[in-house]
Amino acid sequence: MARHTTRRAFLGAVGTAGGASVACSSGLSTGASEPALSHEAIPLDRPIPVEEVPTPALLIDVATMELNLAKMAAHAEERSIGLRPHTKTHKCPLLAKRQLAMGAVGVCCAKVGEAEVMVQAGIEEVLITSPVVTDDKIGRVVTLSKKSPEVALVVDNQPAAKRLNEAAAAQGVTQRVLVDLDVGTRRTGIAVGEPALELAQAIDGLPNLDLQGLQAYAGHLMHVHGHAERQERSLAALATAVETKRLIEDDGIELSVLTGGGTGTWDIDSAVDGMTDLQVGSYLFMDEQYRQIGSRNGEVFDDFETSLFVVVTAISQPAPEMITTDGGYKAFASDADRPRLADLAGVVYGWGGDEHGMLRIADALRPPQLGDRLWCVTPHCDPTVNLYDVYYPVRDGRVEELWPISARGKSQ
Ligand SMILES: Cc1ncc(COP(=O)(O)O)c(C=O)c1O
Repeated sequence: MARHTTRRAFLGAVGTAGGASVACSSGLSTGASEPALSHEAIPLDRPIPVEEVPTPALLIDVATMELNLAKMAAHAEERSIGLRPHTKTHKCPLLAKRQLAMGAVGVCCAKVGEAEVMVQAGIEEVLITSPVVTDDKIGRVVTLSKKSPEVALVVDNQPAAKRLNEAAAAQGVTQRVLVDLDVGTRRTGIAVGEPALELAQAIDGLPNLDLQGLQAYAGHLMHVHGHAERQERSLAALATAVETKRLIEDDGIELSVLTGGGTGTWDIDSAVDGMTDLQVGSYLFMDEQYRQIGSRNGEVFDDFETSLFVVVTAISQPAPEMITTDGGYKAFASDADRPRLADLAGVVYGWGGDEHGMLRIADALRPPQLGDRLWCVTPHCDPTVNLYDVYYPVRDGRVEELWPISARGKSQ
């Protein structure tokens, strides 16, 4: 009953295609007239007790998530640094708006498609943290900036900067840009020092680009085990960015932004003089991969508590020491180890293919029974979120509405 209500409400909000639910894009990329996606919470006709949520489902323990949001906001205020939370984690405009309401200076998106969703939802301060080089993507960014002049894009090479300038000029837009620095990740970004200065000078000479500052994201350091080593390496990496900022400013180019950092280095990068804001993403949910990196206080990174869970059901028992669940590769991203059963000591999750998990229960203190719902901590939260259309936010043991993950799949 509740399940039907839920599905009807959701389909009503996002439209259908061929009988399947489709979270529609903004239409900016294709120009096609697609039904508009609601970014708002979808109320249910009646609350669902958490025990009745259809599985596998992506649940948020709202009270815990709110503690995480508040802790990060308080930390930023205490250190007088901004937050520019990365929405690649939650892909949910509703949550982005909450982060902004709590003081964030803007939000980050990894891809143009994600940024289109955020802008469509009414969020204006959006930084796209991956460079684009092709004319179609450049055109989409400029179209977006026409709607919201606060949309910014990182750039790491001169030809792309020139084409971006031409596209901006053609549309009568001043496009905000940040120079993307490679501070050691070797993924995107121009080398620090002279190469970055030359790029900044080139951008400064392009009339339709407005150089706001620098991005220095040390992605290779976020999961370094042990706080002391993470600290040493992150401070060293960011020192090169601060030095590059000085070099560019000494050349007479004003830079108001130096953005970077992530959950793994949240309390390290916030102490770097010159850093203006942190691009933290995972902190509101947390995942197993992050828990294992260790914190200032010990082996477990518990600065933030897990608030995101995939709930699965025990559906079969092929052998006394095994239980099969209804959640496999399609329920969890499997790039980082396996899910962990929350509150079920001794139960070990094993992959059972696309649709199933196979739990080893021989050492379980309290073996799960058929029909039990089992709460799992995700191995890696971002790509797991990308597998779902909606969150089930849980308060006081019940779900009263659904939160659309509007930017899921917007990887283009
Ligand atoms: C450019 C950039 N900034 C920030 C983040 C946020 O990182 P985290 O989820 O570790 O906080 C990411 C994550 O991959 C990223 O790619």
